[in-house]
Amino acid sequence: MIIGILGEGKLDQRVAIAAEHIPSLLAYKAEKILVETNAGRLAGSLDADYQAKGAEIASRQDVIAKSDVIINIHPIDSAELAQLRGKVLIGGYNPLVNTAFVSACLSNGVSAFSLDVIPRTTRAQAMDILSSMATVSGYKAVLVAATHLPKFFPMFMTAAGTITPAKVVILGAGVAGLQAISTAKRLGAVVEASDVRTAAREEVLSLGAKFIEVEGATEDKSAGGYAVEQSEDFKKRQQAKVQEHASKADVIICTAQIPGRKAPMLLQKETVAQMRPGTVIIDLAASTGGNCELTENGKTININGVTIIGDSNLASTMPADASKMFGKNILNFLKIMVNKEGAIDLNWADDLITGTCIAHQGEIKNERVKAQMNSVTA
Ligand code: NAI
Repeated sequence: MIIGILGEGKLDQRVAIAAEHIPSLLAYKAEKILVETNAGRLAGSLDADYQAKGAEIASRQDVIAKSDVIINIHPIDSAELAQLRGKVLIGGYNPLVNTAFVSACLSNGVSAFSLDVIPRTTRAQAMDILSSMATVSGYKAVLVAATHLPKFFPMFMTAAGTITPAKVVILGAGVAGLQAISTAKRLGAVVEASDVRTAAREEVLSLGAKFIEVEGATEDKSAGGYAVEQSEDFKKRQQAKVQEHASKADVIICTAQIPGRKAPMLLQKETVAQMRPGTVIIDLAASTGGNCELTENGKTININGVTIIGDSNLASTMPADASKMFGKNILNFLKIMVNKEGAIDLNWADDLITGTCIAHQGEIKNERVKAQMNSVTA
């Protein structure tokens, strides 16, 4: 088995497998590991580092043509997919949204595995790229907010007077939101957070933040730990509650998401209009529409002194550690994919194999992706 690692070009500073992971990949009895030229340069893994660990550097075309298993982060274009018939592709392809990529994998006979739809089970935790990347984004969101904020995060008692701590509101207390809470607390802010899942309440409180309570949220156990769409009545009450807290905040970090759907709109433009100049909003849900009505994906805008940063790929701005975490998730996933002889051995009875498979011999194995594709084509 030849394993190929592709770079992400202009799309991302991360690389799917860092140089330090090469010995572990070789331990899966890979015959050879080919790494695209400069694939890890921006993530701190130089070509010489990969070579020193036992990999070979090759052109992108050679990696695609010669590898049996290709590992990367983002979807690749159709012309390249067409060269992967019968081969295995592993990454994080956002298949619930990027249904065109799923179709392309199906029609090109590629066996594609997308680790961003892995089931949320204890066994899957070590392979969960969404959790790893949300950890990075939640942390970085607070640091970005701190650099834009015209005031301190912690309280200071100085000879020049007392500085009050920053007030931070976190919308959505999943992996990114909880990491943002911890980071903001460590920096000394006063933190409040909101979520629609009951389990989130205890987690928020255990981190020393206040929970913004809105009663009557809809929960669905079959959603695998994820949030679901809320009723119109709940949405109205939640927006009013969020407005009450957000209009007094210095920083708002938006992380609320519903898989495969538009992000819930929690901050209306009327709420932003009530905020003091200098307030900073970081919207990690920007790529799916944002939690703030005014967010523009990939842009930093200023509305009456309020800075709104729409960035769903903050993990890419910490490429060294983000790549190490991503790569470790992939290595753990390969453990259940590769047999003792070093060959790909797909066990369809394993829920983590079926749960990540978005295309195999023209068939989608992941049920959520299958349902999404059916609804798109219906
Ligand atoms: P996510 O990225 O899908 O969403 C972020 C957060 O936004 C979630 O907490 C969600 O409840 C919240 N949200 C959605 N709609 C909202 C609304 N209208 N108002 C306020 N908040 C809203 O979530 P993430 O971070 O992927 O985590 C979801 C759950 O999965 C959590 O319980 C997490 O602990 C669990 N999880 C389990 C794993 C495992 O067992 N392998 C791995 C990672 C997460």
